[in-house]
Amino acid sequence: MRIPFLQRPRDYALEPLTIADSPAVSVLHREDFVRPWTDGEFAALLAQDTVFGYAVRETGQGAKPPVGFVLARLAAGEGEILTVAVARAHRRQGLGWRLMDAVLRQLHAQRAEALFLEVDETNMAAIALYRGLGFREVGKRPNYYRSPEHGPTGALVMRRDLR
Ligand SMILES: CC(C)(COP(=O)(O)OP(=O)(O)OC[C@H]1O[C@@H](n2cnc3c(N)ncnc32)[C@H](O)[C@@H]1OP(=O)(O)O)[C@@H](O)C(=O)NCCC(=O)NCCS
Repeated sequence: MRIPFLQRPRDYALEPLTIADSPAVSVLHREDFVRPWTDGEFAALLAQDTVFGYAVRETGQGAKPPVGFVLARLAAGEGEILTVAVARAHRRQGLGWRLMDAVLRQLHAQRAEALFLEVDETNMAAIALYRGLGFREVGKRPNYYRSPEHGPTGALVMRRDLR
């Protein structure tokens, strides 16, 4: 039997990532990366002056863990995406775009010259997101990643000009 139902679109809020988010984002990271980062590694990165990030949460009653996050670094006028992930159940709703846009805005405000990232050449979702945000390929590192699914794969180095 088919049961129709209405699902209200979810509401989300974006805010700066803090050290307190480290355990929750390490859980999200583990979902998607072959070499997951521990909460201690996230906490150590977030303790650095050059590192910043954003978390996105569902709004509503009570404190909720992030359903997506981005971590970035700004050093010597150049930004770098360290990692970005959105929980599977929350994808294709614009959250990855929002997280990346928040980093671009912050770097722009801080007069950074460009934002760089590395992405697995087989990661079509992320590459489509980055191209849509104006990133272009500026290099390739062969055999950079290794996954049980794809074996050794290359990394694309992408750059987004900010000036
Ligand atoms: C990459 C990732 C962060 C995208 O997050 P998301 O919230 O689903 O992305 P958005 O909804 O903001 O998508 C923005 C645009 O990116 C592109 N895109 C995102 N996912 C895509 C997919 N699966 N296939 C094709 N294009 C995709 C589309 O152009 C999309 O716009 P549209 O929905 O209007 O077509 C998410 O897939 C993820 O967490 N992946 C696992 C971790 C990862 O690979 N991180 C990147 C490592 S470098």
